[in-house]
Formats: sequence, C-alpha cells, structure tokens
Amino acid sequence: MEHTRALLAAALLTSAGCETDAATSTDNQELRSAVQVSSATALGDALANLGSGDEVVIVADGDYGDLELVGRNFTADVRIRVASGVRARFDKIRLTNCSHILVEDVWVRPTTAQPAVRIEGGSDITIRDADIGFADHAVGWSAADWNARVSVGVEVVDSNDTTIHRNYIHHVTTGVESNGVATDVNRNDINYFSDDGVRPHGDASMIRSNRITNNVKVNGSTNVGIQSVSRGPTGAVGGGRIDDLLVWGNTIIETTDPAKPFGAPLQGIGFYDGVYGDLFIAQNLVSVDAWRGIAVLGSDVANVQYNTVIDSDPLSPRRPDVSIEDHKDGRPPLGSRLRYNLAARVGSNPAVNAYGNIVTAGSDLPVFFEDHENYDFMPTSSVPNNRGSWRHRNMDGTLQDAARRHGVVAGGGLGSFMCDATSTDALCDLVSDEFELVTPNNALKWSALRPVEGTFNFSRGDAQVAFAQRNGQIVHGHTLLWSAFNPAWLEAYRGDGVALAGLMDDHIQTVVGHYRDEFPGVVTRWDVVNEPLTSSGAFRSDSIWSAVDSGVGPAAYISRAFHAAHTADPDAHLVLNDFGVEFGPKGDALFALVQEMKAEGVPVHGVGFQSHYDTSWTTVPTRDDISEMMEQYAAIGVDVHITELDVRIPSPVSAAEQELADSFYESVATACFVAPNCKTITSWSVSAANSWIDTLTGYTPYHPFDAELRPERAYWLLRAGQ
Ligand code: XIL
Repeated sequence: MEHTRALLAAALLTSAGCETDAATSTDNQELRSAVQVSSATALGDALANLGSGDEVVIVADGDYGDLELVGRNFTADVRIRVASGVRARFDKIRLTNCSHILVEDVWVRPTTAQPAVRIEGGSDITIRDADIGFADHAVGWSAADWNARVSVGVEVVDSNDTTIHRNYIHHVTTGVESNGVATDVNRNDINYFSDDGVRPHGDASMIRSNRITNNVKVNGSTNVGIQSVSRGPTGAVGGGRIDDLLVWGNTIIETTDPAKPFGAPLQGIGFYDGVYGDLFIAQNLVSVDAWRGIAVLGSDVANVQYNTVIDSDPLSPRRPDVSIEDHKDGRPPLGSRLRYNLAARVGSNPAVNAYGNIVTAGSDLPVFFEDHENYDFMPTSSVPNNRGSWRHRNMDGTLQDAARRHGVVAGGGLGSFMCDATSTDALCDLVSDEFELVTPNNALKWSALRPVEGTFNFSRGDAQVAFAQRNGQIVHGHTLLWSAFNPAWLEAYRGDGVALAGLMDDHIQTVVGHYRDEFPGVVTRWDVVNEPLTSSGAFRSDSIWSAVDSGVGPAAYISRAFHAAHTADPDAHLVLNDFGVEFGPKGDALFALVQEMKAEGVPVHGVGFQSHYDTSWTTVPTRDDISEMMEQYAAIGVDVHITELDVRIPSPVSAAEQELADSFYESVATACFVAPNCKTITSWSVSAANSWIDTLTGYTPYHPFDAELRPERAYWLLRAGQ
C-alpha cells in the first residue's frame, strides 16, 4: 500500500511536469511517499506540489541556493532531507508562517552575514542533523573579519514548537536564538561563536545536552554559553517573565582548542534578566575561567541543582560561581533552591534554600574527578553517588554517545504507564536524552494488546512508540509470543493446534503490520519469541505456544513465528530473547537452536541476552562467558543484544553485594563493547523510581539512575565499560 502511495505521488508530480522520480529506497524510514530532486528548480517544483503533508523530498548533492517557504502549513510532517552520503549546500533557509516541516542533513553556508536559518511565525518546524556555519574554519581571521562575516546560526522568531536537534552550528555570532514558545534545542554541537551559544527567550523551552565550546571575543559583547533575557511590555530588558525553561545536561567549555584566537572569559549559563518562573537548571557541566559560572538573577521557583562548575584556569583570579540572586531591580528570589552543585564559588543569597553544594577552588579537583584536565569528569571512587552532576566524561553528554563510540545502541525500558508523546516529566526526559532506543516493558505484550478476545487495543503501545518517535528514538518491540502476560482468554484457549497456529500468525501479522504502517521506521526490531527454554535447555512445555501445530518438533512454532514476522515486515530485525543464556546447558541449547534455524533459512537475526542478575545467585556468567557466547554467535552471523539488563540485591545491601552488582554491569558493558556483533545494551528499568524489581519482595533495585534520577555508579560503568 505504501508503495502504491509513492507511485501515486510520483505520477501526480510527473503529470505536473516536475523533474522527479519515485524513490525506490528500501530504507524503512522511507515508506511514506517520497520524491527525489537534484536541482534547485526541481526542489522548488517538488515543494510547490506537496500535498497536505506526510511526504518526503530527498535532495541529491549539489548547490541549492536559498530554501524559502512562506505560508506552507501541513497536517503531518513534510520531511526535506538529503540523500545519504552526499552534501547538499544551501545559502540560507527561510521558513515563514509554515508548520510541520522537518529539514534534515542540509549543509548551510551563507554567503552574506544574515541568519543562516530563520524560522518566523508558524509552528512545528524541526531542523535536524544539519551543518550550519558561515565558514569551515576561521584560521587567519581578524576581529574585523569575524564581525563582517558571521551572523546567527538559527534564529526563531515568534514560531512555536521548534526543534533544533543534533546540528553542528559553528562560526556564528550566536548559535541558536529563539523567542518562540516550546523551542527544544537538543544535542547540538555549537562551536566558535562571537556572542552567545544559545539564547532561549521563549516560555516552556528546553536546552538539553548541547555541547557549547570555544567563544571568541571580537567586539564589546560578553560571551555567555546560554543566556536568557526577559523583556517587559515596552521591550525593557529584565522587565518581563519567562516561565518553564529547562536547561539540562549541557556541556559548556570555554576553550577546547589550545590554538583558539580571541580567547576571553566565557560565562556559562547567564540568566541575568528575570523573572524566571519554574526554572530548572540541572546536570550541566561548565568549565570556564570567568566569574560567572551559572547565575540566575530574579526567580520565582528556580531549581539549580547537580551542576558542575569548574574553574578552567586556577592560576587566574576568576572563580566561576553557581548562584541564585536578587533581580537587578532588587526583588529577592522566591521559592528557589540551590543544591548539590559543585563550583568554585557558591552564592549565598539569604532568600535561597541552599544545601549540599561543594565549593572547590581547583587544587582538590583530582579528589573529585579522574582527570579533569583532559575533560574526564568521571567521579573518583571516593565520591558519594548523590553529589554533584558527575555526568560528563570526556565531554560527551550521554550514555548513548558513549555507547555509540563502540558501535552499540543504548536502550532504556519504559514501565507500563510511562511516557507518551506529550510527556514532559523528568524521567521521560531522561529516557529521551540518554537513550537511543526504548523497549516498552509491557505495553506490547498480549495482555496489554488483547485483554479482550477478538479486539486489539493499541493505545498504550502506540503512546510509547509515539514517545520514541517524537524523540527520534527507535523501539525494540517486546514481545510477540511469551508464556506469561497472556490474557486469561488466551490461556483458556481450547482450540486445536492448527487453529492456534492461525491465531499466532494473525497476531504477528496484525501487530507487526500495525507498527510498520503507523510508525514507519520506528519499531525496527521485535522479540519474536520470548523465553522458549527451561533452565536445562529443554523447550518449555508450559507455554501455550508449545501447543501450536506447525509440523515437526517442539521448536516448529518458533520458526513459523519468525517467518510470519519477516513476512509482515521484511525490514525488521528479528530476535529470540531469553535469560540465563550466556553459558551452561541453556546457553548451549539456545545456540544450537539458533544455529539450526539459520541452517534452515529461518529469518532469525539476533538473540537477546536478557541479563537480569541477582547478587545472591551462586552461578552467574563471567565476562569471559559472555564474550565467548557472543563470539559463537558472531561465527554464525547472528547479532547479540543485551535486552533487559538490571541487577537486584537482597535488602539490606551489603558492601560486598554492591561490589558484585557493579561487577555485573562492568562485565556486560565490557563484553558488549568489544564484541563486534553486540549491538545493544538496554537497561530494563532506567531508575529506581520506575523499577519493576519493586514488585519482587526483599530486593533493592540497582539501575543506572537512582530514585531521584541521579546517576549511580552503574551508569558510569555502562558508559566507560572498563
Ligand atoms: C516484566 C515487567 O518488567 C514487569 O512490569 C511485569 O510485571 C512482569 O514482566 N523477562 C521479560 C520481561 O522478558 O518481559 C519481564 O518484564 C521481565 C523478565
């Protein structure tokens, strides 16, 4: 059906006289109708001929001049993206009074000093994975060159719900400036700027996990990493109010390039012109040689917490602070907390509730960090988990960045009622920031999808998949068939084996087909069968699915299910998932089963090592066990995914068991990072705040984050894998 739509769209465009071709991409992200263009004229025509939305325009390499759209409002995202592996250059991008447009992978190099990208009016515009800059480098530039040649990277004026995601923005005055409501500036790399890194001035905006580095001072303006300014009705600076700003997990470093010219103090996060209402500044890392590290002047409920502010030059007198202070007009801060920060100076406004902060002027940094001079902010073992942000290692912000360096996808599980496309709570933000993949823990199981015989209920599953889609994440579908979490009517099923086979096929076709069509490119993998084996390696006889009549042998239903899933979505990566399969008889039995399936041409692409560990178990796999089993699968061309990693420790937790718990995380991470066929590490519960282990009595859960979403040692072990 999708294919027909693509052909239809192409036919319409061709009849309108455009130079376009139907895309025949097999990329499963391209199931929507797509046209390919290779000239500015063809692009203009394709854009002029767009329907109501949900279309893709793929731009070939070349030079396209200005991309300018006015008054184009779509009901579903139109995606303008560059064909993979090529470079499409644009001079400027202007989207005025438009909505639902996503521009991806473009290379923007303006020839004049005007904003490279300007979004004015309208809503729901996304700029993603672009390279935006006024030059490739500025070697040999004078201050006058800087002032004449660069302007703002992305300017958002009165446009709401803008997303600026994962771009490289460089050689600019300011990286991103927005007065729009709900601007999400997320995971950009902003490098070499002559004014400020990011300027968020609109309510409900989020500045998350950006990396902001290398300010140059070429005129009278003071450089600030992130600066927000309220304006009064007459435009007076500091005369207004900005609500609901979230500044989370950014890394701001004054100088990473020793040869940087025009060096000058960079102030980290300067919120000097409030009032800021419901402000949240957390988990940022600032390494600068300025007096101002993180400062808020004028607040009405501000939380400034778990930030790390390092004095990058202890020899100079400047000591960066973290503080919440009076408004410049003298109004004291209201209802504000300053807690668990580490900084060279900590503010002491009497109206602020300050606690748990650590002051360190520099010489004692080695007590706190492994190697801060090389931007390694791994906490030393003497640091308690509940102190400081400690989340920045080697200047990377997140688990997914660290994992990706080893070719591994970092995943996080979503509990039953967690996170949908409109979620804004801290836990969901954490999941979208830290992980590249999510696994709904329960929402795709039979009991959730088919509580009542004869109907499907996709509401919870769709909500969680929509959450992932909104965040550009992929989903591991768990699970099409299992012996548990089945609705009572299924467990009571009394049909014959042939009818049960039909029910199974229909379920797989319906569920996989639903996500293939409704969320193209999002649910890229499926646990087709979950836990088929007993601990001795025999096929479970207590699973209803063992009664499927599908020809020969107890394993026949498994192969049949994989074929059915492959037919439903030929692009999906299909996984056989079980626990305790890293070693021993069960491990050998699963390997033998997968080997046989492969030999018979069954489309099995990966195995899942669930990796639920309990420190009281007497036999647990060693790192070598895990590595050896991964190697065996590599030899038969099968990927391995750590699908449900967590550790439970009998309460109360002893020091020895805590150490054992750490060692599990360490073994799994190191084994996976070195194995070329280990592709994913998913933490089944992300934090103790949403732990499924709470349903098991007598245990303390141990996950990457604690109940207050602070990183545990497990988090660092997963990042470092060493
Ligand atoms: C668990 C869920 O996390 C719980 O919320 C639910 O109550 C029981 O199931 N192996 C699996 C997962 O494959 O589906 C299980 O998930 C944990 C064990």
